[in-house]
Amino acid sequence: MPGSTHTRWLAIAPGRVNLIGEHTDYNGLPVFPIAIDRDIRIEFTVADDPVVRLDSPVARFDPFAFQLKRPVEAARQGHWSNYVRAAARGLLEHGVELRRGIEGTVTGDVPIASGLSSSSALVVASALALLKANGATLPRLELAALMARAERFVGLEGGGMDQAACLHGVAGHALRIDFEPLRVTPVAVPEGWRWVVASSLVRAEKSGDAREAYNERARQCREALAGVAGRSTHGLPAYRDLMAVDDLDGLLRRARRALSPVLFRRFRHVVTEGRREAQAEVAMRDGDVRRFGHLMVQSHESLRDDYEVSTVELDAIVEVALDAGAAGARLTGAGFGGCAVALCDDTTVGPVIEALLARYYEPRLGAPPSGGVVFAVEPSPGARVEEA
Ligand code: GLA
Repeated sequence: MPGSTHTRWLAIAPGRVNLIGEHTDYNGLPVFPIAIDRDIRIEFTVADDPVVRLDSPVARFDPFAFQLKRPVEAARQGHWSNYVRAAARGLLEHGVELRRGIEGTVTGDVPIASGLSSSSALVVASALALLKANGATLPRLELAALMARAERFVGLEGGGMDQAACLHGVAGHALRIDFEPLRVTPVAVPEGWRWVVASSLVRAEKSGDAREAYNERARQCREALAGVAGRSTHGLPAYRDLMAVDDLDGLLRRARRALSPVLFRRFRHVVTEGRREAQAEVAMRDGDVRRFGHLMVQSHESLRDDYEVSTVELDAIVEVALDAGAAGARLTGAGFGGCAVALCDDTTVGPVIEALLARYYEPRLGAPPSGGVVFAVEPSPGARVEEA
């Protein structure tokens, strides 16, 4: 049943932290994120006309309204309403009838433009709110795939990890996400493993400069794949097909002969990261914190040297965290700024946060940060709608 126009609802959608498997999703290889205990919330009532009206307590996010009819008009590039419009457009193009709109306020505590998927959380929260308002449902996997495509209207050729993690989060679990077709397998995070997220203080805007650099990487990966595999009558094979046929060393030898140095490094990151993701999942199932941490460090090095998406700030955070006793640390999300994630235990989580405050934030900010830049996160449940 559509929600009555008097009931107040709350659509809650968590951000995510990717533990390992970075820049693999759009290459059809698995990722291994957690949904986190920070979310985007839309508190809304159901409107009796097909119009979305939302505001935010944050001044730079100005109120907006748009009609739920095809084609959904886009706002200027970079405007926050485009994530809500993308959700509406995705649902409408999928054939979901949206006769009723929503009216409400967006809040949240996922840091914005930090590589923690605040934007996908807004897309997913919007979709769930619109579905609720219209008494419609979609299977979660279908909705995750649909919202991944929908968010591409905003410009990033994203791979689908963020929306799937947001919709499929499970408390206490990491999520192995496979693509083509989309599947999600929760893996219990061992007792005592703690995750610290640290912002580099450099924004990585999905709709801004980072978008070009990201989309360029996606193009290079397709070119590298074509260069190594060659096109057959069956079309282009996938990365996972190449990895299934050749051992990694053989595959890398072939790639080195076939590709330019830059494309070779992009290719090497993708296939070694694919292998690291699989190994990390085994390490988690075995409760082997050292091994998992070591794989995170290798992932960071590969993202820094071969994929060239790290920054000196992210490198510095990783170094401080490791130095202070983290088992592993790496940039998380697309890179080009944003956050790093460190794997700690109950005894190292405090010292790692202290060390980052003293050695990373205070020298840069001249004072202790105001909060929201370095914090521990818990693997958390996925997006949902509740009565407010
Ligand atoms: C962004 C994209 C994801 C993924 C990561 C890199 O967050 O939205 O789909 O590609 O970058 O792993």
